[in-house]
Amino acid sequence: MSDDRRLRDDGRTGLPSATRERRVVARVEKVTKVYRLGGHDVRALDGVSIDFLEGDFVAIMGSSGSGKSTLLNLLGCLDRPTTGRYVLAGEDVASMDDETLSRIRGRYLGFIFQSYNLIQQLSVVENIEVPLSYQRPPLPGGRERCLKLAALVGLGGRLGHRPTELSGGQQQRVAIARALVNNPQVILADEPTGNLDSATSHEIMDLLDALNHAGRTIVMVTHEDDIAARARRVIRLRDGRIDTVSENRPLAPAAEVPALP
Ligand SMILES: Nc1ncnc2c1ncn2[C@@H]1O[C@H](COP(=O)(O)OP(=O)(O)OP(=O)(O)O)[C@@H](O)[C@H]1O
Ligand SMILES: [Mg+2]
Repeated sequence: MSDDRRLRDDGRTGLPSATRERRVVARVEKVTKVYRLGGHDVRALDGVSIDFLEGDFVAIMGSSGSGKSTLLNLLGCLDRPTTGRYVLAGEDVASMDDETLSRIRGRYLGFIFQSYNLIQQLSVVENIEVPLSYQRPPLPGGRERCLKLAALVGLGGRLGHRPTELSGGQQQRVAIARALVNNPQVILADEPTGNLDSATSHEIMDLLDALNHAGRTIVMVTHEDDIAARARRVIRLRDGRIDTVSENRPLAPAAEVPALP
């Protein structure tokens, strides 16, 4: 098969045959990230290659300093690799100019952070709207979409509340709705349940699970085994390299995943 965007059976993923036709949404190839610090080099990533497939749900684990956030930041185009290649949406990120890069980031990626990163002066619905304000031209029906997303994450009754008037779990729900507002294909989450109690963490995971079933690709950093167990695959990093990749459950055949709205 010649189509480069299709996954070939090249032994990199070890996936069962039903999933071989899944599109690769993000591919990192022999990526390194070297920080120069006080006259010596810190190899935060040291030759990482991995494919993320359409509809994938990946947990990235590893001890503190193993390179998890560095990898997620590269995937989110918040940073560039020192060497190696990053292909997003079929395009080499290195060859994109800044404008293309920010357009692809805005359209293709959604971000969720451990500390929610909400704007304290804005209400629930206004926070969800924030990424829309960067869209040129503005998307029609934006406010209506934000109201639907607030309802989707269970905050339809809290639209006018400010972040300080919400629980941690509710604030993370706002952040998830905000991440979804541009209908991204890929959701990147750095310890999304890191500040939440166990019951609330699993509610947030239920939401991510539902988004994954609706076709989104999710890449999530976590320290917690029970949270990682909810992902489809677990990648463990060690000293900037992939230590192990394990599969909790197979990827559903592509035909079973509904198209994005
Ligand atoms: N901006 C930077 N400048 C210099 N070194 C950095 C920088 N960012 C990260 N590092 C180093 O790169 C390595 C990987 O850092 P990274 O933040 O990716 O780790 P992590 O796995 O996310 O850890 P944690 O679980 O503590 O969040 C660490 O040794 C860190 O000190
Ligand atoms: Mg980190």
